Amino acid sequence: MSSKGVLAGQKALVTGANSGIGKAVALALGKAGADVAVNYVVDEDAANAVVEEIRRAGVNAIALKADVSVESDVVAMFAQAIKQLGTIDILVANAGLQRDQAFDQMSLERWNTVIGVNLTGQFLCAREAVKEFIRRGVVPSVSCAAGKIICMSSVHQVIPWSGHANYATSKGGVKLLMESMAQELAPKRIRVNAIAPGAIRTPINRPAWNTEAALNALMTLIPYGRIGEPEDIARAAVWLASDDSDYVVGTTLFVDGGMTLYPGFSTGG
Ligand code: BGC
Repeated sequence: MSSKGVLAGQKALVTGANSGIGKAVALALGKAGADVAVNYVVDEDAANAVVEEIRRAGVNAIALKADVSVESDVVAMFAQAIKQLGTIDILVANAGLQRDQAFDQMSLERWNTVIGVNLTGQFLCAREAVKEFIRRGVVPSVSCAAGKIICMSSVHQVIPWSGHANYATSKGGVKLLMESMAQELAPKRIRVNAIAPGAIRTPINRPAWNTEAALNALMTLIPYGRIGEPEDIARAAVWLASDDSDYVVGTTLFVDGGMTLYPGFSTGG
């Protein structure tokens, strides 16, 4: 069944794929026919469960431990992925975290952790993926492109966020990292794009949705009137990874229920 999927025969690596958005993306890429490397840094059992679920779709999957902010981990992970899957056609640079703190209390450690994983981690993974894309080039029977990178950004690449300066800065950085890579690599037929999720029901933002009061407050920020689900992002990722989006280069696809539409202005202004 999977051989008919839009990603049939392609090899994907998804970082932070043992939970949340990354897990949904990894499962969806597998259902679309790709073999998937499931990266994780903690909770090996969760990663193995994702691997098992992907394999049930009739494709190959492997779990790979690596801290994306550590260069030697990333280099070793790509070597393993390429050895075990044959090559890499798709990178979803998804791994991300929050370490929120009031600005005047923000420790350098919290700043560095968030920038290290969310921004430097995307750089390191993208660099290793690009080396493999260039080495291998376009294989027309597999894809029109030599490779596809999807950077998981956030609405906070454009929406400032008090109490989260480290996180918003990392996502603002992802925006220009993505666009600079897209410009530089398009002539090599490597497509780089981003997805900017809004509020998605995952562990990272549990306090924003796990009580009725919090969910009601969240709804004032979402014109579409519902929280996003990881599958909303996964469907966008499958499309951006597939040849259906072959002419989409350097774009950020906002999947946010309208969160970036300045909902405060629906009555004021
Ligand atoms: C953050 C979430 C937040 C959402 C919308 C995401 O990037 O990780 O915690 O709910 O943006 O503000």
